[in-house]
Amino acid sequence: MQPVQWEDGVLVLLDQTLLPSRIEYCRCRNYLQVAEAIKTMKVRGAPAIGVSAAYGIVLAAFSYQGEDKAEFMRTLEKARAVLAETRPTAVNLFWALERMKGVWEENSASAISEIKNILADEAKAILDEDLQANKRMGSFGNELIPKGASILTHCNAGALATAGFGTALGVIRTAHEAGKDIRVFADETRPLLQGARLTAWELLEDGIPVTLIADNMAGSIFRQGKIDLVIVGADRIAANGDVANKIGTYSVAVLAHYHHVPFYVAAPLSTFDLSLSTGQEIPIEERDAEEMRRWGEYQLAPQNVPVYNPAFDVTPADLVTAFITEKGIIRPPLKAGIKSLFEL
Ligand code: MRU
Repeated sequence: MQPVQWEDGVLVLLDQTLLPSRIEYCRCRNYLQVAEAIKTMKVRGAPAIGVSAAYGIVLAAFSYQGEDKAEFMRTLEKARAVLAETRPTAVNLFWALERMKGVWEENSASAISEIKNILADEAKAILDEDLQANKRMGSFGNELIPKGASILTHCNAGALATAGFGTALGVIRTAHEAGKDIRVFADETRPLLQGARLTAWELLEDGIPVTLIADNMAGSIFRQGKIDLVIVGADRIAANGDVANKIGTYSVAVLAHYHHVPFYVAAPLSTFDLSLSTGQEIPIEERDAEEMRRWGEYQLAPQNVPVYNPAFDVTPADLVTAFITEKGIIRPPLKAGIKSLFEL
């Protein structure tokens, strides 16, 4: 399952707004189409957004047909600025754009045609590295999963949210492949139902036992002793270990803490933002009120009801049992562990 693919100069995205009813691909031929696909969540999930944005830069580079280096650089910079305006919370977006910018700046003395190819190679490296990081997280995380475990996850941190395989679902996939006889409870994840539409679909496709629950059922299921551990992904992790992830993650973390159940966060290094000392500084995206009031043609709430629709929340570090990264497991004290990750 590859949500983001580069095919002959076109960025091909599996349109996640249509899943699970329809499998359709959105073909982006310029960076504006990529920005639109990120904004409208045709592609979503922190690492997948980063990979797509990198390819947005590649599309901007190849669309430039002139010979003027300064004008070429301005074209790239404009594309970077537009792509950076799409979604504010997932740091992987900014991380990937900065990495692409670093590459065009470092190679500014090269010919334009050469810079275009170097940018294409860099985007491919970002995609390949994400896939590899997910596989590594899968094997590190697998060590934390007991045989027969019943696992709760929130939103979709799967193959669909990454270059493939997934972060939280990558760990779940690895444990399943190891024959651990695990089962998953998937929170449906209102308002956009990433758990119901995407996680449930992805796990069923792979034959991994999954039970869908509405978000408000999680507490009762914890109380019945049916959850052995929680694994979620992340959109941005501050230097102290505070985690921004899909709205509702904090409630799950509080439930896990109350019920003495481990709460694991699986995320690649590209999701850590050491420039922010705590989660309070993480910008939280607020999305359109219509996402709460309507579902397609169905009116779910009075059209004139005021709505609050933050897309993410912040789970404080002290509710996190451990981080699962491609460089290993980080346990408390998380701040020191995170710092050492970047010193290796
Ligand atoms: O709004 P979304 O669907 O982009 O939010 C996605 C999440 O919150 C994921 O849990 C997170 O990006 C991690 S994906 C590996």
